[in-house]
This record gives sequence, C-alpha cells and structure tokens, in this order.
Amino acid sequence: MTILITGGAGYIGSVTTELLRARGEQVVVLDNLSRGHRDAVAPEIPFYEGNIGDRELVTRIASEHNIDACVHFAAFAYVGESVAQPALYYENNVAQGINLLSALVTAGVRRIVFSSTCATYGEPQQIPIDETHPQLPTNPYGWSKLFVERILADYDGAYKLKFVALRYFNASGATPERGERHDPEPHLIPLVLKAAQKEIDHVTVFGNDYPTNDGTCVRDYIHVSDLAEAHALSLDYLRNGGSSTAINLGNGQGYSVLEVVEAARAVTGREIPIQIEGRRAGDPSHLVADAEKARSVLGWQPQHADLSTIIKSAWDWHAKDMSA
Ligand SMILES: NC(=O)c1ccc[n+]([C@@H]2O[C@H](COP(=O)([O-])OP(=O)(O)OC[C@H]3O[C@@H](n4cnc5c(N)ncnc54)[C@H](O)[C@@H]3O)[C@@H](O)[C@H]2O)c1
Repeated sequence: MTILITGGAGYIGSVTTELLRARGEQVVVLDNLSRGHRDAVAPEIPFYEGNIGDRELVTRIASEHNIDACVHFAAFAYVGESVAQPALYYENNVAQGINLLSALVTAGVRRIVFSSTCATYGEPQQIPIDETHPQLPTNPYGWSKLFVERILADYDGAYKLKFVALRYFNASGATPERGERHDPEPHLIPLVLKAAQKEIDHVTVFGNDYPTNDGTCVRDYIHVSDLAEAHALSLDYLRNGGSSTAINLGNGQGYSVLEVVEAARAVTGREIPIQIEGRRAGDPSHLVADAEKARSVLGWQPQHADLSTIIKSAWDWHAKDMSA
C-alpha cells in the first residue's frame, strides 16, 4: 500500500514525506512545483510533476501505485495574496481540490489527511482555540480551506471517505535537511532570519495597535517535525478505523511578533531591524491553539515546542542553505 502526498515538494510536505519514508511507508509525490522545489524530494521517491486538479493523472497514479491513502498538502497558503487574488485561491485550493477528492474516491481511496489551518477560525472568540470554536474566516485563504473541510464531511457521508483535517497553527523550524524556502517569503521566522543575515534590510511588522500585550499579532509556532509526526499518527488513526475528525496542531503558547524578533536576536546574536507599518488585511490579532485533542486522539507529543529551539533549527538550516 502506498501513500499519495500532494504538495510533497513544499515545506511541510517534504519534511513529512521524509518522515513517512523513514517509518517504512511507500510514498509517491504529486506537485506542480509552482511553490515547491524538486530537490526537496529524494530522487528515489516516485515524483509526478502535475496538478492536483488533473483527474486523469491522479487516477493513473492511484492505479499504478496501489494508493490506499492521501496526505493532501498542495495549496496556495498566503493570507495577503488570497485577499488580493481570491480567484487564485478558490481555483487552486477548492476547484482543483474537488477534482483531487473525486478522482481519489473513484479510484477507491478512502483515507485522507488534509492540511487545514487555524485561519478557518477567524477572529477568536476565546483563547486558546479548540476545535469546537466557530469557524468564520477573515480571508479567502481561510475560506478556501474551510470549504474543503465541508466538502470532506459530505464526501464522508456519501462516499465513506474518512479524513483527518489537521488545523495547523504557524509551521516553523527546520530539519537538518529541509526547511522553509518560499519566494517571496511571507512567514515571520524566515524573514527575521533573512534580516539577521542581512539578506533583507529589516522586518516589516504589520500593525502595533492590536489588542495584545505589545500591540503586535500573537501566533502559536509549531515545529515542522512535530507537524510531520502528527500526519503519521493521523494515518495510523485512520487505518485503525478512526472516524473523520478535525484536530488542531499547535503548542498552546502564543508569541507576539516582537517576542519572536527578540528571541531571534538572542539565538543569532545579530541585529534584526524592524519597521512598523499598518495592519495587513485579514490578520486576526491572536491565534493560539488548544491542542489537547491531538494528544488524546492521536497520542501526539510535540518534541520541539520551545520557541528558541524552533528558531535555532531554522537558523542552522538557513545558514547551511546560504553556504550551499
Ligand atoms: N506553513 C504554515 O504555517 C501553514 C499553516 C497552516 C496550514 N498550512 C497548509 O499546509 C500546506 C503546506 O504548506 P507549506 O507551508 O508547506 O506550503 P508550500 O507552498 O511550501 O507547499 C505547497 C506545495 O504544494 C504545491 N502545489 C500548490 N498548488 C498545487 C496544485 N494545484 N497542484 C500540485 N501541487 C500544488 C506547491 O508547488 C508546493 O510545493 C498548505 O495546504 C497550507 O495551506 C500551512
């Protein structure tokens, strides 16, 4: 039995692909390389360059590789871009996502782990956010993920497609071999490290008038290896007959933008200049997870929860990438 990994050439997908392979799983990657890197996937792993919306291709992969489960990472994932270009997000994440799910169901695949997001919750009504919190996204990216969650629930009802929707908070950190390489890079920790390396002049802080301790947005940072582990556990859960569910992945600890910058200054020993600008459309003030369900349902135990450890792992990887 083989696992189809969509978006396996991306940041979280490539780390998860390696972890599943290390656990002895057979894996196949489908990625159109629009935002990923071919060299993030080991050459011995079967790799298909193509779109998740290409039903013929998905059907062929499913039959050639005896696919029994899919881990579905492939999507566009930038809040700001989704506000400016919603059509891009609904087409790529929703329309193509439907084609993928339909092709999988037709091919007899009945298990899927889906990359959802805390952005489906919108502005929190309470912190920490558990899975029963109302879902009212504040941007098209969040809506695109929520629509797919809804479609998955209906596909379970009608076609018995069992799913785990993992609602990640802020993925961060790196393994020695794989890290975050987005271009342009919208995520805070890699940007802070680029500023430390003088690759960029400063880090832009979008808004310092939020209702938080220092006025900057608060997020819950989770190490990419801990995220990857949760995917492996979710596959075990589904193979053991688990019912469809949605599970938060975070550490339950929030850090403001300024706290992240301060922690990165301590880790790197470098100057990290910042520039305060106005708020960015679609950004909620606080996003911090209640991740108890991941522990109780999946048996998940994050190993790299400390912010400095997360930043250090990204710094080590970033420095290696720069010297390559
Ligand atoms: N990075 C985060 O903090 C975060 C937080 C919450 C949720 N997520 C979700 O996790 C998933 C992975 O995020 P990431 O940060 O690794 O992103 P990423 O951009 O690094 O990886 C996504 C991969 O999907 C591929 N892709 C995109 N659209 C495709 C399509 N139509 N067909 C085939 N391949 C396609 C890209 O080429 C890329 O390799 C995404 O679904 C994202 O929404 C990420």
